[in-house]
Amino acid sequence: MRESDRNLDSLTAVDAAHLQPLSEPEAFAPGANDAATSHSAVFFHAHHADPPLEATTAGQIATPAIISIDETATIPPSGSTLLRDRVLVWLQHNVPEARLQHILRVERMAVELAEQHQVNRDQAAQAGLMHDLAKFFKPQRLLDIAQAERLDLDPVDLANPHLLHADVGAIVARDEFAIHDAAVLEAIRNHTLGRPGMSALSCIVFLADSLEPGRGDTPELATLRQLSHQDLHHAVWQTCEDSLRYLIAHSRLIHPRMILTRNWAMSLARQPS
Ligand SMILES: [Fe+2]
Ligand SMILES: [Fe+2]
Repeated sequence: MRESDRNLDSLTAVDAAHLQPLSEPEAFAPGANDAATSHSAVFFHAHHADPPLEATTAGQIATPAIISIDETATIPPSGSTLLRDRVLVWLQHNVPEARLQHILRVERMAVELAEQHQVNRDQAAQAGLMHDLAKFFKPQRLLDIAQAERLDLDPVDLANPHLLHADVGAIVARDEFAIHDAAVLEAIRNHTLGRPGMSALSCIVFLADSLEPGRGDTPELATLRQLSHQDLHHAVWQTCEDSLRYLIAHSRLIHPRMILTRNWAMSLARQPS
């Protein structure tokens, strides 16, 4: 039930966590950056489908001051509000409204988890806000950027380039918003598949992406949310398993990194505290 939801945007996807159709506009009008995809992809979230979305028309929003944001999803950032405003304007032009609301819920939950687990809240907010920057990049654009960056691509990445939106999102954060905080960039990179040895910050963004309130209200999600506040590694382990169960049940490709993340998180969760 995570963002593979969203990340599982094709029959070959594996981005895991997530799994049920996330309704997003069939044709999202991108802004000047031409970042959006036509969205042939259908994303899945394990337990709950997001409500139907309205496409955001590029160019409607000129300043952050008039961005309409669900009050329940906004959080007062303690970091640079100027940077946050710039990112929000960029997102308004590059992702649909429903995706923006998801991003804001991820930002909020990441901050909550950071405070709970004594992790830097500003880094959590920044990574949460920027985790899906490349969500609507077209597959070829994702591949072109990944190859230009000489990323090490797994065959599953090639079969489902949408999985690269996490890695490419970190590149956009670096190049578009001059983010050079390695921990933040890593958390963006790891938000879909995780990574063995990932930091607490990365665990938090991974979990916030999968478990933010918009993902649904199933008993399984409630359990995972509770776990995320108690034990990050245990929650990552269980979230991976949830995603893997879905992927197997639906005969989808599994990215090997999801399995490595699951094994790593399980080994740590089982250590006595
Ligand atoms: Fe994502
Ligand atoms: Fe996301």
